[in-house]
Amino acid sequence: MELEDANYRYYVLDDPSLTDIEFDRRMRELSQLELNDPELKNPNSPTNKVGGAVADRFSSIQHLQAMLSLGNAFSVEELRAFVNRVCRRLLDAGLVKTTSTKDTLFDDLTTELEFVAEPKLDGLAVNILYRDGVFESAATRGDGVSGEDISQNVKTIRAVPMKLKGAAPEYIEVRGEVFLSHDGFAKLNSMQLSLGDKVFVNPRNAAAGSLRQLDSAVTASRPLDIYFYGVGAHSDDFTFISQHDLLGKFRDFGLRVSPLVKQVKGFGGLQAYYQELALLRAKLKHDIDGVVYKVNLISQQQALGYVARAPRWAVAHKFPAQEERTKVLGIDVQVGRTGAITPVARLTPVFVGGVTVSNVTLHNRDEIERLDVRVGDEVIVRRAGDVIPQIVKVAPRLKSQNLMPFKFPECCPDCGSPLHFDGQLVIIRCTGNLVCGAQQKERIKHFASRRAMDIEGLGDKVVEQLLVAQLIVDIADLYTLDVDSLKVLERFAEKSAQNLIVAISESRNTTFARLIYALGIMHVGEVTARQFSLEFTSIKDIQAASIEELIAIDDVGLVVAESIYEFFALPANNKVVSRLLGAGVTWPVTEISESVQRTLPLVGEVVVVTGALSKMARSEAQQLLRDLGAKVTGSVSKKTTRVIVGDAPGSKATKAQQLGIPILSESEFSDWLKQKQAG
Ligand code: IVH
Repeated sequence: MELEDANYRYYVLDDPSLTDIEFDRRMRELSQLELNDPELKNPNSPTNKVGGAVADRFSSIQHLQAMLSLGNAFSVEELRAFVNRVCRRLLDAGLVKTTSTKDTLFDDLTTELEFVAEPKLDGLAVNILYRDGVFESAATRGDGVSGEDISQNVKTIRAVPMKLKGAAPEYIEVRGEVFLSHDGFAKLNSMQLSLGDKVFVNPRNAAAGSLRQLDSAVTASRPLDIYFYGVGAHSDDFTFISQHDLLGKFRDFGLRVSPLVKQVKGFGGLQAYYQELALLRAKLKHDIDGVVYKVNLISQQQALGYVARAPRWAVAHKFPAQEERTKVLGIDVQVGRTGAITPVARLTPVFVGGVTVSNVTLHNRDEIERLDVRVGDEVIVRRAGDVIPQIVKVAPRLKSQNLMPFKFPECCPDCGSPLHFDGQLVIIRCTGNLVCGAQQKERIKHFASRRAMDIEGLGDKVVEQLLVAQLIVDIADLYTLDVDSLKVLERFAEKSAQNLIVAISESRNTTFARLIYALGIMHVGEVTARQFSLEFTSIKDIQAASIEELIAIDDVGLVVAESIYEFFALPANNKVVSRLLGAGVTWPVTEISESVQRTLPLVGEVVVVTGALSKMARSEAQQLLRDLGAKVTGSVSKKTTRVIVGDAPGSKATKAQQLGIPILSESEFSDWLKQKQAG
């Protein structure tokens, strides 16, 4: 009972009562007891959640009540038509009244009718039968009349209770969607990759594959989740007056219901819900492919009835697809500023997941081999949420197409230098470094970018022109340019040439952190650059630092330290840096005297800001903290004194919790600042 309750609190209430370790210990204890005294084992013991039962095939189970499907609405017009149909029928059935005298317009009705709006979960429907509150069986939807008996597998899902809470009906079929979260999906796939097993195309397929395992221990190892949304056959001792009421009773039974479910009114309410979820979609922890609207009152549902295999009282309003098919026009390899080689597929542009996609990264050679993607292939492109678009699968190709497998180049496509294939890191690099034109171009673009030296007007095209015309070779050459030399370039006139020269000239006055970042040293991002700018006041100091001294800096590990050390060990790099300084690149040395330093209110604080803040940008908050004397770092460590969490914080908040570091919400943060500034 204790374990059942712990599962319920963890998976249904999101409010754990036991730590993971305690839970595991108790679970092992129960397993041991059951092993010692097998006759005491309850068939619905929580130990079922670890799986074990192995089937050689799935037998079939007939649903007590058929599982139906849903009609779809793909546009606002189709949604409007659904609402109108519903109102028309309810009027005819005498269940609702209208003040409208027109036969086709009943605005009062379409604004007043009650619906329950729910996310349309993208997973697999299951039907679970509870008899006297005890889990009896679970089946897939199948053909709607009967499905496969996946009881052993469904039992392993942590959020599925073996026993309903409270007074349970004699029997009840409850229906829900089994799915995998994005996290669960990513974890599962990286596990599959490391085991050399099949990688799943999307969370839905992964959930389906996991549920249809003959060995339930395999299912148990998959982080499956479930939300309940409907009911099938049930004994007369179970009654409910509305969908809202039903979901409330589900919650009381300990069955998980999506927290996004909402009771809404009328056509306007449905539309608002759709918009709300469309915006939330990218931030959700799991896939949804639309929303489902259900007429709330059961009396109204009954009057509306069914057509073919779908209820007239519900409809699915679909979101734009997250997967589309398109053609691979070519595969290029790109060279990054640090020489990293990335293959990129050029596609016939396709609208997917809300954006037009015409290029997708293929990451590395292994990925191309795994997908066996070839120029001319039809592929499935997926873009879910804010995740970068990717090719998930190559459509079956015809033999007659005779496409050539992609051959990964052995040399840099730009400078011809041999590529370095690091088996471990899967990163392939051009060894050309300083002689590689592509790397050089990327380095210059990075140097000029907004967060580095911020040279307006120095984008991809212009850098390319300058390099081709041999006006520059490296970043230091930028400061030797003049208006006359620029004017000869295509698309440059006196004015535009002047503008660029001014922008370049103004970039000379920068900050030390920006300059360090702008150098484009491998593994040195903005946060690290800032850290260095706090510890050192001159380039000379950094050049002279040993690896040990570099590691001693907050947030700097061996990889970063070595990278910096190697950068400055190269005479060519040092030469570029001294030419930059010679050209007048300078920054204010904020020699905050020790006494001033000590009077700043947040001296001694080491703060991490994570998640999205609502009142200011994260970078503003960080600047504010620094201005008040705090040290701001990018990752949580034992040295961290406080973590500010905004919306949708990630692993940093979790880590802070584990380390017992005080966590401040945005409002607590601003209170804290006020208090510190006052005191
Ligand atoms: S209600 C009679 N509600 O979508 C009503 N279905 O396209 C039947 N689904 O088979 C389903 N989320 O697998 C309902 N909130 C939700 C749902 C949902 C996902 C799935 C379910 C169903 C399919 C129909």
